[in-house]
Amino acid sequence: MEVLINIAVLASGSGTNLQALIDAPDLGGDIGLVLSDRADATALDRARSAGIPTKVLPWDDYGSRSKFSIAIREEVEKRDVELVVLAGFMRVLGNELVGAFSNQILNIHPSLLPAFPGAHAVDQALEHGVKLTGVTVHFVDEEVDHGPIIAQRAVPVLSDDDRDSLHARLQVEEHDLYPKVVAALARGDITVEGRKVRWD
Ligand code: GRF
Repeated sequence: MEVLINIAVLASGSGTNLQALIDAPDLGGDIGLVLSDRADATALDRARSAGIPTKVLPWDDYGSRSKFSIAIREEVEKRDVELVVLAGFMRVLGNELVGAFSNQILNIHPSLLPAFPGAHAVDQALEHGVKLTGVTVHFVDEEVDHGPIIAQRAVPVLSDDDRDSLHARLQVEEHDLYPKVVAALARGDITVEGRKVRWD
């Protein structure tokens, strides 16, 4: 019988990446929890429709990154989560969580890191005039959009692109790439040495 790893997805927004993970035929994992800092996140509706347990931890209830990170850690430890997948989660996580889940937290970012980290990557790529941008899946460390890079896909910037058109093409790549990275991790095909990530 196939062994499924236990996954928690953290999302603050629309959750199209969560949906891609839910719909993936061979994820190699079981999404046992969708956690959000926002009670109105559409991602929670997607989870409920798929029969996945949800949890809301409103940021304002904690008041510090440290307390918020401990609360998330407690939720995922309670459920024996082995992999935490950030899918549009708009809060920075502290060492209280990141330290306990070293190389077990993934993020997807809409640029070719280390270019354009932070919350405005698509706008910044357009403003800077780059001809090529893309998406990055990386492990999460304590710095924003900084941990070891697992996979990247390049996406050309077109002369008539605006934020929405470019983001839509980036998301096509995100939805294809993220489940593949999760599946590779679940199979044990990915090893990490410092910043270097190797696919076997
Ligand atoms: C994605 O573009 C991802 O790269 C970024 O946040 C966005 C989330 O989109 N981290 P969605 O909520 O999965 O649709």
